Amino acid sequence: MDKSPLGPFELNALYQGDALDLLPLIPSGSIDLIVTDPPFAIDFRAQRLNYNRTGANVLEGYAEIAPDEYGSFTSRWLREAFRVLSGSGSIYLFSGWNRLKDVLYGIDSAGFHTINHLIWKYQFGVFTRKKYVTSHYHILFAVKDPRNYTFNKIEHYPEDVWVINREYWKGKKKTPTKLPGEIVRKILFYSSNPGDIVLDPFLGSGTVAAVCRETGRHYLGFELVEDYYRFASERVGSMGDRGVRKKMPGKSGKKGRDRENAEGEI
Ligand SMILES: C[S@@+](CC[C@H](N)C(=O)[O-])C[C@H]1O[C@@H](n2cnc3c(N)ncnc32)[C@H](O)[C@@H]1O
Repeated sequence: MDKSPLGPFELNALYQGDALDLLPLIPSGSIDLIVTDPPFAIDFRAQRLNYNRTGANVLEGYAEIAPDEYGSFTSRWLREAFRVLSGSGSIYLFSGWNRLKDVLYGIDSAGFHTINHLIWKYQFGVFTRKKYVTSHYHILFAVKDPRNYTFNKIEHYPEDVWVINREYWKGKKKTPTKLPGEIVRKILFYSSNPGDIVLDPFLGSGTVAAVCRETGRHYLGFELVEDYYRFASERVGSMGDRGVRKKMPGKSGKKGRDRENAEGEI
């Protein structure tokens, strides 16, 4: 039997465990792209019912990081992320604004070169009384070697503000924070090729692995919370080879739906 390029891990597999324990087991230079949305050090238990969601459908147990440990947690996993990436590898890292300074520091100190600081604008945020409504995330696009990285220029004028709607899983089980497939698809088409190996050390509902499977990329993923790990495994396992997509789909941007979305579920 051929040895896995991922050492103790199989290609196209998800594992339950702490990313800080599992990342050091990945062989150096074996990953082409990391796409990840780590915990943000805010209290998500308090946010389960946001956006008019039905609480019973939101899976419990989201693992958050204590605020005073967030800086060292971020620097530790980013050092490992740098080591496991190939010489032409890149990372797309999602971050809220509240702990962005820790993320920027971690990226620089791990040795990455930041290529773009993207903004993801989504269609609504949580209602506020005395401050602006946050309706964006930051996405840091960073590479190991600024002279050698994958960038498939699939749009003529690729701007750094992405307006992409959140998805609705109305009436279905879900984890509290879930990236839209469209945003992950866009990243994979720009910064990887079919057959590349993509890692998400903080899987949540497994969107990155699911879109890798859909687009012919190999994947490896970790998730600490058992229920989320099971949810992601079932989601990805149930996909088979249905709906395999080889090209970047058209843009979303259905403007007329914003009011409907603000009252829906995510
Ligand atoms: C923001 S969510 C990821 C959402 C995901 N991108 C999706 O589309 O569903 C972050 C996830 O990291 C998990 N997590 C937190 N600490 C972890 C750790 N040390 N190792 C692995 N997973 C962890 C949380 O339980 C949560 O599911």
